[in-house]
Amino acid sequence: MAKEPLPGVFELTPLNPKFSENPHALLDRLRAECPVHRDPAAGTFFLTRYDDVRGVVSDNSMWRGPQFAEEAAVIQRALVEQNIPGITAPEDERGKSILLMDNPDHARIRPPLAKALYKRVARCRPLVEAVVAEKLDAIGDAKRFDAMAKFALPVPIDVIARILGVDQNRLAEFRDWSEGAILSLNPFRSPAETEWVARSINALSAYMRELMDKRRKSPQDDLVTDMVQLQAEGAPLSDGEISVNLQGLLIGGNLTTTDLIGNAIWLLITHQQELAKLKSDPALAASMVEEVLRYESPVDVTGRIASRDMEVGGCPVKKAQSFFVSLRGANRDPAAFPDPHRFDITRHDAPHMAFGGGSHLCIGAPLARLEAQIAIPAFFARYPDAKLPDPTPHWRQMPFFRGLKELTVDV
Ligand code: HEM
Repeated sequence: MAKEPLPGVFELTPLNPKFSENPHALLDRLRAECPVHRDPAAGTFFLTRYDDVRGVVSDNSMWRGPQFAEEAAVIQRALVEQNIPGITAPEDERGKSILLMDNPDHARIRPPLAKALYKRVARCRPLVEAVVAEKLDAIGDAKRFDAMAKFALPVPIDVIARILGVDQNRLAEFRDWSEGAILSLNPFRSPAETEWVARSINALSAYMRELMDKRRKSPQDDLVTDMVQLQAEGAPLSDGEISVNLQGLLIGGNLTTTDLIGNAIWLLITHQQELAKLKSDPALAASMVEEVLRYESPVDVTGRIASRDMEVGGCPVKKAQSFFVSLRGANRDPAAFPDPHRFDITRHDAPHMAFGGGSHLCIGAPLARLEAQIAIPAFFARYPDAKLPDPTPHWRQMPFFRGLKELTVDV
């Protein structure tokens, strides 16, 4: 019988129900049969081996900006050429997010932002503990609730909002704008979603510009103030660069961390032996979070572009060819993680790839880790016998991300 053709990038997203149900059936097959897979329709390589993924994301000579990709790389080109109607955000914010930026700009903008963020993260444990306790208290004595809506979703948005110094009364709007703005990375979005992207980008930009002006006039103890002060002291950062990257923290700071917390609650309830280990040894919180990040990474892939003719995984690659690197695939590579499909919170194998790597390594990783290390044990301390009336996970459909739409628990 003829073998099924190897899956392309589109089939490696949750828009494909088979992938959504079990991504590893497809990723394992690719890793075994064609680890440096060229998808001719998407015009990109798709990598699934741990060593190849780590090698590519750690190679800081590779490009991140989609404008460097060859014409054949249709998904990358679509990001460059997308002309989203209705965007009124100032021109000086376009292309200024560190997420898709290369040096010298990346090396100029990321370090001051990272330094200011890490300084705040280093002292925000009491803040995270207070936010977590507040959200658990707000659940009251409900016996059944949606742990996404009531817990995984409100904790990260509240924490990042307080770090940045944005208005606590507008969290629902920030969440809506974050979900809208992130759809700019989804090449398969609908026209209605494109309108949502424009609306969200405009609203986020207008809000951030206004707040920067306010903080210049009246400084507060927050990250927006830190950044405008750094600029006033001579840091070479434009208003557009500060604004769009603070928006990036607001967006990045909630969606993925929500998925991490939701995935962790679901995994621990469905792996009672692992939950028992955590309950009996709270010091396992950190390795539990790393294992959730490995086993059910909130982000599927990241990307890079070859800046020269080179070889990857033994295959020749030409300058300007594009790579989708599967963080999820790397995280289940048996060459790096013995028995990779076993969820084991006491693992001490290779570091996982959930936060990418090299100079683009997720800037929010320390914050995401801290929030999850506090939120998840606190949830199970409050609800030690939490159960799932429906253990089937309902995954969101957003390409390149993996998180739950809802997670009803009985407590
Ligand atoms: C579990 C939670 C998170 C996951 C799984 C995650 C994952 C990632 C990944 C895979 C990348 C791309 C790295 C690469 O290409 O090598 C990234 C970049 C980034 N993340 Fe996160 N992230 C998370 C939380 C956060 C948080 C909390 C923030 C903000 C406070 C954030 C902000 C960013 C930003 C700004 C970048 C771009 C960094 C750069 O390109 O220099 N992320 N993240």
